Amino acid sequence: MLDAMFFNRLRAAEAPSARRFEVRSPIDGHVVDTVADSGAAEASAALDRASAAFRVWRMRTAYERSGILKAWHALILEHEPLLAELMTVEMGKPVTESAGEVRYGAAFVEWYAEEAKRIAGETMQSQFPDKRLHAIRQPSGVVFAITPWNFPIAMVTRKIAPALAAGCVVIVKPAEQSPLSALALAALWREAGGPPDAFQVLTALDPKPLSGVLLDDFRVRVLTFTGSTQVGVELYARSARTMKRLALELGGHAPFLVFADADLDAAVREVMACKFRNGGQTCVSTNRIYVQESIATAFLERLTAQVAALRVGNPLDPSTQVGPLVDQAGVAKVTAHMRDAVVHGATVLTGGDLRSGLYYQPTVVTGIRPDMRMMREETFGPVAPVLTFATEDDALRMANGSPYGLAAYLWTSDLRRAYRVSEGLEFGIVGINDGVPSTAQAPFGGVKMSGIGREGGHWGIDEFLDIKYISVGLT
Ligand code: SIN
Repeated sequence: MLDAMFFNRLRAAEAPSARRFEVRSPIDGHVVDTVADSGAAEASAALDRASAAFRVWRMRTAYERSGILKAWHALILEHEPLLAELMTVEMGKPVTESAGEVRYGAAFVEWYAEEAKRIAGETMQSQFPDKRLHAIRQPSGVVFAITPWNFPIAMVTRKIAPALAAGCVVIVKPAEQSPLSALALAALWREAGGPPDAFQVLTALDPKPLSGVLLDDFRVRVLTFTGSTQVGVELYARSARTMKRLALELGGHAPFLVFADADLDAAVREVMACKFRNGGQTCVSTNRIYVQESIATAFLERLTAQVAALRVGNPLDPSTQVGPLVDQAGVAKVTAHMRDAVVHGATVLTGGDLRSGLYYQPTVVTGIRPDMRMMREETFGPVAPVLTFATEDDALRMANGSPYGLAAYLWTSDLRRAYRVSEGLEFGIVGINDGVPSTAQAPFGGVKMSGIGREGGHWGIDEFLDIKYISVGLT
């Protein structure tokens, strides 16, 4: 139960600060709790503590680090119902999805508990008989992780489990809309025996003062960020001054191509899962559904019927499929995109309006043109724009005609087409007949304006390891 005792456990994981701010639930606007409002002074103090902690944590054996990560993983799973409820209350995701996210988030901790033990180097051949050449991999240092509100647990663990496994220490700045989930993770980390200063959480209403300190300090060696492309570009530029390593997971604008040879029911099912999970507030949710002309009418009939039947409501009710948007800014963006589309001639097949509060009706819209706002920017809401294409070449050209390159999807029964199209798509992630490909052991990340670096799988830990060449003379 989310009672006073539970919130007190979270307090233990907070950085001390004289100021506090309210966390309000998008369900009905009630105040869930207050959290520390950290600024520049708190960031400096946290960095001093992190730097000291790094000297100790990096010296623990990979087996010791792995053991603590495993204990943390077990505690996260043990707290699944509580963490799911907390996440739903603070950011509005349907509680069944929140429970799924707790398991998804825990899977990164489990994966990197195992990867910690597989960090390895190389020995090269030398042209000299009296030399030995080695490359070893060592933790990079203090990591600054800026995490988004849309996956308040999984985006923290996907970033910091590999960092901690590698021997780095982390300061996390969670989004102001959902700081409590990050604090819960930090509390469980401590309860699992993790050193408190190896994983610190700095909550803030205005992230700029604290971020400025951490971005400009040379002791922070890695910046890992998930958020908008606009902010990512600013962080990229600012990090150059101290030559930080960067992993940037930025905006997406995912196309979903449905070919005439697709199994239509399966394609609609997967478009629904891809588009409407987390109410469409997902970087890898499709923003542009392209359907081959000959099946467009049948596809739209089925999609519209299923979207109209989605259960919108209180996300704490396990039967709810779409909850509220996260905040007023989210509603304003969805509303503006829809208004722009309708003014420019789009047709709404279902939905198309705000229901009440932060609850937006799941929407299907056609008659979309490439210059509409929703074709150029992420809508980040439950809106499915459907367009048509004539040939495979057209589909590829339309899909690739975007500066973003995070995720793309296609549905076809033709194996040769599946390979041809997936290899031609300029995206970091491709789902062939799969609308929800994300998983802990696979690489997650984009190309073009969708970012640099990879999270997940064995790739994810590389972002936190430096390579050191050691040459040994034996004369
Ligand atoms: C995201 O929206 O950034 C994360 C989605 C995922 O992990 O599938």
